[in-house]
Amino acid sequence: MNRFSGKAVVVTGAASGFGEAIARRFAAEGASVCLSDIDVERLERIAAELGRGDGTVECVPADVSQEDDVRKLIETAHTTFGALDVLVNNAGYSHRSQLMWQISVADFDAVFAVNVRGVFLGCKHAIPYMIDQGGGAIINIASIGAVAPRPGVTPYNATKGAAGRAPRHRSCRDLPRLRRGRHDHGDEPRRRRWAQHLRPGMK
Ligand SMILES: NC(=O)c1ccc[n+]([C@@H]2O[C@H](COP(=O)([O-])OP(=O)(O)OC[C@H]3O[C@@H](n4cnc5c(N)ncnc54)[C@H](O)[C@@H]3O)[C@@H](O)[C@H]2O)c1
Repeated sequence: MNRFSGKAVVVTGAASGFGEAIARRFAAEGASVCLSDIDVERLERIAAELGRGDGTVECVPADVSQEDDVRKLIETAHTTFGALDVLVNNAGYSHRSQLMWQISVADFDAVFAVNVRGVFLGCKHAIPYMIDQGGGAIINIASIGAVAPRPGVTPYNATKGAAGRAPRHRSCRDLPRLRRGRHDHGDEPRRRRWAQHLRPGMK
């Protein structure tokens, strides 16, 4: 099936694990895919396997915690494919499992920089393109740790709580202009009330 034929997709953290599988699946479903990661060697190998150079696969090394990197990633994907339909904020990092009082401030900052600032930067730079083209979808990969926290990774759990909450707020505020966007429907009645508030008469 080519369910995503003609769609332009960006996947962060695409050099391994979930991100690699997500990128491969979108490509198999007909999408044009821009893969991104900090692991440049693996990233380029996977992009080459998927057919980089045929106009439907691009790869852009980027650290999602760095605004210049994320801006360049989104701009390159949009320039290459002429659109931006889906952003998958998948890149993630976890510090070593430790008791809360043994976790260093550097580890705390690092996990928030990737898992929370990275999601924010992805949304910040993708949404204007999606508004311009009339819609789009942003998928933030959170974790069961957000709702059933695992011991030893308290800051990581907190970052995933933030990543999971962010789309609800974003969908409320951007809904009037991002009508084709996918939303987290967990809070559907409240989302509808907000939508009515922001744009009277909206269903
Ligand atoms: N594996 C699990 O059990 C699990 C469960 C729930 C959620 N998750 C989440 O799923 C996502 C993917 O996890 P995974 O298990 O595939 O991990 P993984 O380690 O296999 O992949 C993560 C990728 O992100 C990249 N990355 C790390 N820091 C980055 C940065 N600053 N900028 C860009 N790329 C960066 C890594 O190089 C790696 O390729 C993460 O957000 C993770 O928190 C994983």
